[in-house]
Amino acid sequence: MNACALTNEEFDALSGIVYRRAGIHLPQTKRYLVYNRLINRLRKLQLISFGQYLDYISKRDSELRVMIDLITTNETYFFREPQHFDFLEEVLETEYQGKNPFRVWSAACSTGEEPYSIAMVLAHRLGFQGWEVVGSDISESVLETARQGVYLINSKMKFPEGYLKAFCLKGVRNNSGKIAVGSQLKRSVSFININLCEEVPRIGLFDVIFLRNVMIYFDLDTKRLALANVLSHLKRGGYLIVSHTESILGTGIDLELIKKRSSIYRKA
Ligand SMILES: C[S@@+](CC[C@H](N)C(=O)[O-])C[C@H]1O[C@@H](n2cnc3c(N)ncnc32)[C@H](O)[C@@H]1O
Repeated sequence: MNACALTNEEFDALSGIVYRRAGIHLPQTKRYLVYNRLINRLRKLQLISFGQYLDYISKRDSELRVMIDLITTNETYFFREPQHFDFLEEVLETEYQGKNPFRVWSAACSTGEEPYSIAMVLAHRLGFQGWEVVGSDISESVLETARQGVYLINSKMKFPEGYLKAFCLKGVRNNSGKIAVGSQLKRSVSFININLCEEVPRIGLFDVIFLRNVMIYFDLDTKRLALANVLSHLKRGGYLIVSHTESILGTGIDLELIKKRSSIYRKA
């Protein structure tokens, strides 16, 4: 037998751990994905089987975190699903009274492009004061990247006109090919480790919550739990924004769908 084959039992044990820790549902069809994402880690640790890796994890909580980092899908980019950012502009223009700071939570923010995109819209409308963005994720390694706010320029990077110049710095010499989010913007964006399947720390109430491209990894029970956790931090009259490919249908959670095609819900 190939020393590093992933047996059914080992896959079930690993997927059980991932489910209990992060709420991520891994059906058998994800076996090759799990294998591919973990095999180099096994090699690095000089372990010769997934059985040995399971034993290794069971003795080290730090390795459990590394494993969750490797298993999670962190794809994200600036101004992903741009209609949601247009909607945010609309809310600021038509509903925001300016009395209290406008607060937005980007839950499951990955490497930070989503919370920084939100921050750019807020700064564009309100200047650099009177608002706050909180980004959170279960993975500490993506949060480290988010806090640095430095990104390789890539083909998915598309900003509304003028935003790049207004809110980012283009790298030169050693840093050419990169952009850095400007310090004024960064000051109003904070990052915190939050597992959406566990009790959320005291982070206050928000006017808008982005919960995009994470529920696709959850089964119905986990979706319900994550939604309940998130919604307990949404103000009455506030908005929940999920991805176009997601829905809260079937969860029994009662929110008003206000823009069908854009997956935007309002809390009564
Ligand atoms: C595909 S990214 C989505 C990033 C961004 N929201 C977007 O739409 O571009 C999914 C993120 O969800 C995070 N995640 C997965 N399970 C989580 C959980 N239980 N609690 C918090 N974050 C979780 C992953 O670490 C990953 O960074």
